[in-house]
Amino acid sequence: MRSHFGGALRRVDSGTKVVLGGWVHRSRDLGGLLFIDLRDREGLVQVSFNPHWTSPEVIAAATAIGVESVVLVEGTVAERPQTMWNPNMATGEIEVQATAIRVVGPAVTPAIPVALDKEGKLPAEELRLRHRVLDLRREELQRALILRHRLMQVTRRFLSGQGYLELETPILTKPTPEGARDFLVPSRVHAGEFYALPQSPQIYKQLFMCCGFDRYFQIARCFRDEDLRADRQLEFTQIDIEASFIGREDIITMSEGLIQALWSEAGFAVETPFPRMSYADAMERFGCDKPDLRYGLEIRDETAVFKTSESGIIQGALSAGGRVRGIRVPGGAAWSRKQVDELEAIAKSAGAGGLVRLKSANGQLEGPLAKFLSADAQQALALADGNLFLGVAGLDRVSSPALDRVRQECAARLGLVNESQRRFLWVLDFPMFDQDPETGALAAVHHPFTSPNADDMREHPDAPARWRALAYDCVLNGTELGGGSIRTSDPAVQSRMFQLLGIGDTAEQERRFGFLLEGLRAGAPPHGGIAFGFDRIAMLLSGVSSLRDVIAFPKTTAARALFEGAPSIVPAVDLEELHIRTVEG
Ligand code: AMO
Repeated sequence: MRSHFGGALRRVDSGTKVVLGGWVHRSRDLGGLLFIDLRDREGLVQVSFNPHWTSPEVIAAATAIGVESVVLVEGTVAERPQTMWNPNMATGEIEVQATAIRVVGPAVTPAIPVALDKEGKLPAEELRLRHRVLDLRREELQRALILRHRLMQVTRRFLSGQGYLELETPILTKPTPEGARDFLVPSRVHAGEFYALPQSPQIYKQLFMCCGFDRYFQIARCFRDEDLRADRQLEFTQIDIEASFIGREDIITMSEGLIQALWSEAGFAVETPFPRMSYADAMERFGCDKPDLRYGLEIRDETAVFKTSESGIIQGALSAGGRVRGIRVPGGAAWSRKQVDELEAIAKSAGAGGLVRLKSANGQLEGPLAKFLSADAQQALALADGNLFLGVAGLDRVSSPALDRVRQECAARLGLVNESQRRFLWVLDFPMFDQDPETGALAAVHHPFTSPNADDMREHPDAPARWRALAYDCVLNGTELGGGSIRTSDPAVQSRMFQLLGIGDTAEQERRFGFLLEGLRAGAPPHGGIAFGFDRIAMLLSGVSSLRDVIAFPKTTAARALFEGAPSIVPAVDLEELHIRTVEG
């Protein structure tokens, strides 16, 4: 039906007769002359209706067409006089002189505009998600999804080129723990039994290694029933990878190559190898396991300065085994009390009791705690004039997350975040377990299938909380792009890990993870892998700020699909067939 994409026409096409299909983006009626901006996937082109080349009937018909209707247009490409060139349009040097137009898909009045006004102001996101078909017509989202497609093809080419096989894993599965709740699907055939949607293909990809496929990848959909944020969705996509007879370095090198290929597709050069940092260092210096290295404001241990302080709060924290750690904010001494109070509120919301604040102005140390610091201690702090010290006294478990948040807020306030900078980082040597301070119970930091560090197991056989894991995360500018590990391939060690995680009963282990243990017992090669958050990568490379902008039909933070209207109530008869009864309240 169509000869060209209108948005792809250029000056070289002048004189060509074309048939275009697209949407009426906007139309301008200049009394006898009519201009329609016609939109297709490649962009906009101006179609002009003029008595010199268009019949009066066609002009009249074109004038009556509403915006967002789908039309087929016939005409000839013509170069515009140079004074009429529009440098803001890729097709701005030409126009299409129309001889015929036909509406093939009339549109009702659009609920939200696709053509934005001069300020480019968007309707509220709820409204845009509710009318997603219109929203997805916008150039920004079209570009983002088209880039997403290209990134998928790059991923396939790169990994396939490295000998990885694209294999699929089931969607109706047995639960695979990745730290979130499962989405469950009731079985109609087996009353009272449920499938789980995969939180990740983790166990299946390990089974592929036991089967001898050796190198696997999948652009895999994962489902996690967790609280949503701008960088989390209930349903998201991973580039999921696993390989046999490899070690950590192989996965790191392969991943850096993949990232280089992806970033290059979006027009960015990436230098490899990426720097590395241990988890312990990241926590000590930045208070988090995914530090943004685009700015400093590093956390330092200032316990030595404060240990002689006579403040009851500080002495209390120190005697409970805590430390005083903090950051120095250049120029922060000029911040108002209210501004510092806001930072304290951030620290408190992250769990800290408060913020130790000291500023150095005119050679004087000021702040509620200054009077408790001896002259020697003040000298040891050596706070430069104009700087502000912000600290937290307490256990690292408390001070790290609080100082992480405070550090990020200070960097944003000081304008230290350079948006064009890309600081990749590998974070290595995560702890194997997180221990509940009250109950002593262990939880896997990565997941239960990660291999602990063999040296740590040997040195501290009875202190698993001290074991490090053979796990690694890839971080960019404070965002976790991906994570993986070398796995436990020895079924006895895997069984021990389950035991440490509170699944001690072997029958219970078999019930939940028998299919993995059977695979490992059948002869498992040493193996490991990684998974990258594909939506996050697409989001960063398209320059949009929300995952929802790179997912065609996303869920809101209230876990709803507004366009299709999901989740929704199911008729009682359907539930009955699934052996399900809902309970009011
Ligand atoms: P992990 O749970 O770290 O590892 O997930 C890997 C990457 O997936 C992305 N991601 C998400 N993206 C959007 N919304 C979410 N809710 C969400 N959750 C995670 C992140 C993350 O780095 N099976 C292991 C991988 C392995 O060990 O090989 C796993 O799933 O970018």
